[in-house]
Amino acid sequence: MSEPLAGKTVVLGITGSIAAYKGAEVARRVMDLGADVHVTLTRAGAEFITPLTLRTLTGNPVTVSMFDAPDEWQVKHVSLAERAAAVVVAPASADAIAKLALGLADEFVYALVLATRAPLVVAPAMNDKMFAHQATQEHLQQLRARGARIVEPETGRLASGAVGRGRLAEPETIAAAVAEVVAPGDLEGVRVLVTAGPTRERLDPVRFLSNRSSGKMGYALAEAAARRGAEVTVVSGPTAIPAPARCEVKRVETASEMRREVLRRFPKCDVLIAAAAVADYAPATVEDSKLKRGEKSLTVKLHPTKDILADCGGRKKEGQFLVGFAAETEDLLARAREKLAAKKLDVVIANDVSRAGVGFESERNAGYALLAGGEEIELPEMEKPAFAERILEVVVAGLQGKRRRRRKR
Ligand code: CTP
Repeated sequence: MSEPLAGKTVVLGITGSIAAYKGAEVARRVMDLGADVHVTLTRAGAEFITPLTLRTLTGNPVTVSMFDAPDEWQVKHVSLAERAAAVVVAPASADAIAKLALGLADEFVYALVLATRAPLVVAPAMNDKMFAHQATQEHLQQLRARGARIVEPETGRLASGAVGRGRLAEPETIAAAVAEVVAPGDLEGVRVLVTAGPTRERLDPVRFLSNRSSGKMGYALAEAAARRGAEVTVVSGPTAIPAPARCEVKRVETASEMRREVLRRFPKCDVLIAAAAVADYAPATVEDSKLKRGEKSLTVKLHPTKDILADCGGRKKEGQFLVGFAAETEDLLARAREKLAAKKLDVVIANDVSRAGVGFESERNAGYALLAGGEEIELPEMEKPAFAERILEVVVAGLQGKRRRRRKR
């Protein structure tokens, strides 16, 4: 699991909607992104879900009424308002949305929203008629105009039994919106090109040579870069996973198609991250018709493919930043350093693919980031999205260093 919210405090306000029970799942998802979550319930919210559930889940005290302990509340709402990286109101009832729009402060969460300068995320949940009502829509419009992020409700079966628009968005979607509003934006204006997935090298109309790459690492990198504000294009081999959010995706099949699409785009990118597992060999000839079964053994001649990353390294302009991967089974660091130099990279991510549970086809990864300047950063085993964040931190620092050096000259 990615931890874009590590070290951040997020305040979650749960208001009086039948979807309040899903607030626990929202808390869980935001915590999964690394945040320290403080929950506050409105009095109506507390009718639907108990503070005990949320206190146990988050490990933090839960505020319900601001009149319980007024002195404590005063201190707490100010300190939380200062500490919060984001405030998320989920579910937000029609009443909650109206109060937020009007700036009322009769509950802890509304007072906190007024007292903080942290970004606000609002996830409405209510009956479809209430959601569609002009009053609710106008209030949402006011909140949007003030910069709040509205996580639109979905269409589905509502508490009334009717089907309509008003069902709380998925907790995962709400958590992602929180991560987005908090994201550092440190790749704003940067054009990132990512290669991802395997390639398929055709043998005949129905057969191909390929490898075990799932595309998860490349997609996680692309998505994390987009979240940080980059303009991202992914040149992707065939994968079975959902396309990365907010990225342009160009699908290709073979190494030579990938090369063509990457080289076309390379001159206009600032950062190239080559996460694809490109076939090193392709059949010398592709049969027009399906190979028939025979009694004799079959020899297939393979020709080497061109190294896309090395070609980009050769064409690298000043200011462009290249990240490659080195999947190795032995002499990990030495071989990765050789690739760093040979392909003129700025960073190589060295993976020990002989290790069980990491790398190909896995949810997790582990390795080292080796920098052209000689630095070596260990990347301990973690989920691929979190691994992607760590790589991007290295990229951001490297890009900044490059720019500083250019300015000095
Ligand atoms: N790569 C590429 N084009 C290729 C082969 C590899 O762009 N035709 C990129 C990969 O995306 C990766 C890096 O080069 O970022 C290293 O790939 P890897 O397969 O580990 O190294 P190779 O150079 O192919 O060396 P070897 O297979 O001999 O270890």
